[in-house]
Amino acid sequence: MMRDVHVVGHPLVQHKLTLMRDAERSTQGFRRLLNEIGMLLCYEVTRDLPLEEIEIATPLTTMKAPILSGKKLVFAPILRAGMGFVDGMLELIPSARIAHIGLYRDPKTLAAVEYYFKAPPDVAERLVIVLDPMLATANSAVAAVDRLKERGCRELRLVCLLAAPEGIAHFHAVHPEVPIWTAAIDSHLDEHGYILPGLGDAGDRMFGTR
Ligand code: PRP
Ligand code: URA
Repeated sequence: MMRDVHVVGHPLVQHKLTLMRDAERSTQGFRRLLNEIGMLLCYEVTRDLPLEEIEIATPLTTMKAPILSGKKLVFAPILRAGMGFVDGMLELIPSARIAHIGLYRDPKTLAAVEYYFKAPPDVAERLVIVLDPMLATANSAVAAVDRLKERGCRELRLVCLLAAPEGIAHFHAVHPEVPIWTAAIDSHLDEHGYILPGLGDAGDRMFGTR
């Protein structure tokens, strides 16, 4: 089974990620950068979407021109931090539907605890792009994809900002066919399950809750 991990090395993504890692970055700046990187990662994760040709009329003549074909999209942010990607991605694909997946990590066990799940009724027929800036133990991403597969989803992709090697290994051990896009693969997890060097707690930094 293919195990795809795409590290997005684009200079704009790398530059913005460095700004986000800086402990001095304001809540406002952090949120804006996450949104901007969301837009750039959306560009990358949709790079291979299928096209079909349709006949159109320009002001001067007719031509066959490409448009998107294939499955429609659902963005599935894992709350809270996954919301940071949504606005940027919707700028590029305004017709996408949203599936909200509420999960928090139990601070002691690091298990993912579900508190909300709401997906469009036709989610199983769509390409689902799961969004979570942080792939640490991967308990959250694994639980989110489990839940989406329960609802019949078969074509899934995961977009994160930072991934730990442990998280990638765990995620692909459970969901080997789901490709991952990330801006960086960091060194390792600390004893509290935080990514090192990382950027801290993405949800808290984005919403100013600490
Ligand atoms: C954080 C982060 C991910 C999860 C990653 O969420 O936003 O969802 O941890 O860790 P994992 O790979 O070990 O599961 P958190 O539980 O802190 O919730 P929050 O986004 O609401 O702050
Ligand atoms: N969740 C975060 O927000 N940051 C980490 O480093 C790990 C999990």
